[in-house]
Amino acid sequence: MKQFFSIAVIASVLAGLAFNRTNADQQQFALADSIKGLKTYYQSYFDIGVAVSPRALKTDEATLVLTHFNSVTAENAMKMGPIHPREDAYNFAGADSIAAYAKRNGLKMRGHCLVWHNQTARWFFTDSTTGKQVSKELLLQRMKEHITTVVTRYKDVIYAWDVANEVISDKADEFYRPSPYYDILGEEFIAKAFEFAHAADPKALLFYNDYDEINPVKRKKIIQMVKALKAKGIPIHGVGLQAHWAVNEPSASQLETTLKDFSQLGLQLHITELDISVYPKEHNARERKPEDSDTAFSKEKEAQQIEMYKLCFEKFRKYKQHIKSVTFWNISDRYSWLDNFPVRGRKDHPLLFDRNLQPKKVFNEILPK
Ligand code: GLA
Repeated sequence: MKQFFSIAVIASVLAGLAFNRTNADQQQFALADSIKGLKTYYQSYFDIGVAVSPRALKTDEATLVLTHFNSVTAENAMKMGPIHPREDAYNFAGADSIAAYAKRNGLKMRGHCLVWHNQTARWFFTDSTTGKQVSKELLLQRMKEHITTVVTRYKDVIYAWDVANEVISDKADEFYRPSPYYDILGEEFIAKAFEFAHAADPKALLFYNDYDEINPVKRKKIIQMVKALKAKGIPIHGVGLQAHWAVNEPSASQLETTLKDFSQLGLQLHITELDISVYPKEHNARERKPEDSDTAFSKEKEAQQIEMYKLCFEKFRKYKQHIKSVTFWNISDRYSWLDNFPVRGRKDHPLLFDRNLQPKKVFNEILPK
């Protein structure tokens, strides 16, 4: 009897543990066991990540997150503007909810981003007593305080940070992008950002992240800057290639050269913001054109997008020794930042899942054979 009782107790404890492992997220957005997630196909290659908002994680898009991805990035919630809107106030709510979600569900998390010329609150560069531009000293002090606070808060969940984002100029004859950071501090702000982040979490992998990395002139500048940081002993561990691409770029040779050049740095590479727009990329600022009103995901667009995604994943697999993570920028075609950029209100279809959250044809085409 006593023996039976203890067996019963052990059985109920084990059942309880099993139940606890299925947390509320997984109960609400149940994983279909029959569906093999993209992360599983790619487990011997690299992590498969996705950019998320706190809101999306409360909708059925979360089913896709739990099924296919093993890493998340906050799309906006950890950027300086949203998380630190006033000098004396942080707004951690959104970032905390994504971080807690990642922890509950055993997902890795990339931090994005600490220093960027966009989505940064104006107060950051303004001296609150004089109303004028901040001094060098005050800006450095603010950077240190901001970076230390945010990195420390999430050090139990974030393993890699995009420390500096997009500091290199798009213009062929200009090295750094003009920005309040650069104007006030000169190039020193980049090294300082890495040092502050490293001091706050010495275990975190620290990345430089940028777009149009396939452009040979810009790529050369990025590589030159990263090499210079390394040579000075600045703690930089990786390069983030945003990979906001389109049906007409990159070409196979452009992508090959890009990955080859970056892999020679001897640092980790993360593909940080992958999406393939179905609209050919044009590099000049553009107005809405008549053809932009045809936003259907036609067979032709589908076929072009499949070819481009296939090329990307073939190359990513080839460089798996260097590429440790591939993150998509948004979950499904239900919502993408490209729906409003560069043409306002033009629906794009840049991801692997359609608006009904079903895998598109492209999904099967990018699986390793
Ligand atoms: C850049 C940034 C991202 C995001 C995208 C557009 O790539 O790094 O945080 O803002 O633009 O969504």
